[in-house]
Amino acid sequence: MMSKPTLAAKPVNAKKKETFERNGYLLLENFISEEECDQLRERIHYLMQDFNPNEVRSIFDTNPDTHTSDKYFMDSGDKISFFFEKDAFCEDGSLKQSKERSLNKIGHALHDLDPVFETFSYSPKIKHLTLELGIANPTILQSMYIFKQPEIGGEVDCHQDGSFLISEPDSVVGLWFALEDATKENGCLWALPEVPPLKSHYVRKDNSTEFIYYDNSPWNLKDMIALEVPKGTAIALHSRLPHMSFANTSGKSRHAYTLHLMDSSSRYSEQNWLQRGDHLPFRKF
Ligand code: FE2
Repeated sequence: MMSKPTLAAKPVNAKKKETFERNGYLLLENFISEEECDQLRERIHYLMQDFNPNEVRSIFDTNPDTHTSDKYFMDSGDKISFFFEKDAFCEDGSLKQSKERSLNKIGHALHDLDPVFETFSYSPKIKHLTLELGIANPTILQSMYIFKQPEIGGEVDCHQDGSFLISEPDSVVGLWFALEDATKENGCLWALPEVPPLKSHYVRKDNSTEFIYYDNSPWNLKDMIALEVPKGTAIALHSRLPHMSFANTSGKSRHAYTLHLMDSSSRYSEQNWLQRGDHLPFRKF
């Protein structure tokens, strides 16, 4: 199990916030230990054992139209739900590989429903990091375990996380934890080091979703920089940072765990696709 977190107060490093707001991201090497990375990986392996892939065929794809009528996806804000890679299936609908090698991600409430992910997600060092980024009272909105599978891990189009989760005023921050080395070969993150206005908002409308576009111009992908990071690194992502990842064509996976938080003084948008039932409200630290 996770080691017991310490509660020692640490000084807040103001430079981190300045760098984060200027570049739109912040890299923190050795933020989590090898042991913690492996504990999260082992736990996800355990959670996958009970998942029956014949009951669910939900595919995660960044294509805007994929999820519009996918109830399993729409209801996943307060659950532990399993999403496949689109290239995981044969023509007859069977999996090409084991379920463990076929999943794209698991989300979106691991942090509230699984004790191992809960201990990690609500740890004092994550609270301290959010403080350094300017979030005084964090509320965790969602969690995702992302596999980026060898050979079939698909490309994630350039996007801003604020298009998918927004608050008023905007205080949403993403935290991305490398549970394995992330390299150009296995599909590391790439980012445009800037924080332009939001180009779109992916909104929930009745039992469906749609994109509202504010700016249809393409991203300047030639200025993207690769965020190659070793296992144990945390990457903080501004809600308006344009970022993406290419397909993983290598033989190595690129597991990552992500959290999205906002300051509890902000109002969570009722238009966001991710909503929760009354039985599991968003929690502060
Ligand atoms: Fe993202």
